[in-house]
Amino acid sequence: MFRSVARSAAGKHLLRRGYATESVPDRKVAVLGAAGGIGQPLALLMKLNPRVSRLALYDIANTPGVAADVSHINTRSEVTGYVGEEQLGQALEGCDVVIIPAGVPRKPGMTRDDLFNINAGIVKGLCSAIAKYCPNALVNMISNPVNSTVPIAAEVFKKAGTYDERKLFGVTTLDVVRAKTFYAGKAKVNVTDVNVPVVGGHAGVTILPLFSQATPKANLPEDEIKALTKRTQDGGTEVVEAKAGKGSATLSMAYAGAIFADACLKGLNGVPDVVECSFVQSTVTELPFFASKVRLGKNGVEEVLGLGPLSEYEKEGLEILKPELKASIEKGIKFANQS
Ligand code: NAI
Repeated sequence: MFRSVARSAAGKHLLRRGYATESVPDRKVAVLGAAGGIGQPLALLMKLNPRVSRLALYDIANTPGVAADVSHINTRSEVTGYVGEEQLGQALEGCDVVIIPAGVPRKPGMTRDDLFNINAGIVKGLCSAIAKYCPNALVNMISNPVNSTVPIAAEVFKKAGTYDERKLFGVTTLDVVRAKTFYAGKAKVNVTDVNVPVVGGHAGVTILPLFSQATPKANLPEDEIKALTKRTQDGGTEVVEAKAGKGSATLSMAYAGAIFADACLKGLNGVPDVVECSFVQSTVTELPFFASKVRLGKNGVEEVLGLGPLSEYEKEGLEILKPELKASIEKGIKFANQS
């Protein structure tokens, strides 16, 4: 096990820059799959987060190097690297938030569902360990297919008797990040001012950006809204093809994962009105899991927010996505219960 401590004047300074009324307690965050394409930049971004006091980096290989590297950054958190299954328990013990980008990414021509056979087993194993070593942690699931891996995690936790639906999140933030960027480009507005909810799931047509609710308002014509919707749904594939066999989105995903984990930490620390989109247990539709805006609080999900008013095009999109999302959820549940 690799261990190093980095506490410095710069780290303490960052601490004071938190939300005005926020307490900044000790918070342990683990990244599982930390030596991967997403894991490495995500480890870097979590090291820069002043809300983190301990950062546990776990992978089945190569974590000591990543941990040594990241640990030299002079920010608040103490970084520890863990490698191999026998160190997984130590990585997880005492965690407040566990981020999971472990597993194989897509290659050109693959759908996220094509990853199921490998990633379902990885996620199942990691979640069994979470149930054992940090059953109260908030789990941020990045591993694809998110539409199935989140239901798998829920089943594993139910079997272990630790399931708390407020604490399990499918990370769909990258869809929101893309929708914001693409919308800002078309609407010619400042991207940092843009908000776009993205609901449904995290694969192809199950990704439903609600551009009718985008702010600042731009009144884009229908054909541009359709093109933006398609580009948001295919954003992952755009990156997979551009990388031509060298993986899927890693840098933008690390950014999105860091934004979402930070929102979870803010909620835990009592910052009010923290709202992000996420794929969670839900009654917003008839499906048991669904992505929509959620308010985050001291116990994870405080409130799952409704869809709000939809355009006719979005209403159609919602009906189109339901059968695929339902099948992916059922596939995950079946896998978790059969083996
Ligand atoms: P990668 O192959 O570069 O890294 C994956 C890492 O997971 C590797 O370091 C590998 O050693 C590790 N790993 C494998 N089995 C493990 C286990 N049992 N325990 C711990 N670590 C394990 O892949 P990349 O690009 O980082 O993608 C990771 C996952 O994230 C993929 O499933 C990908 O589809 C997904 N993803 C999700 C997105 C989202 O929006 N939710 C966006 C982009 C990717």
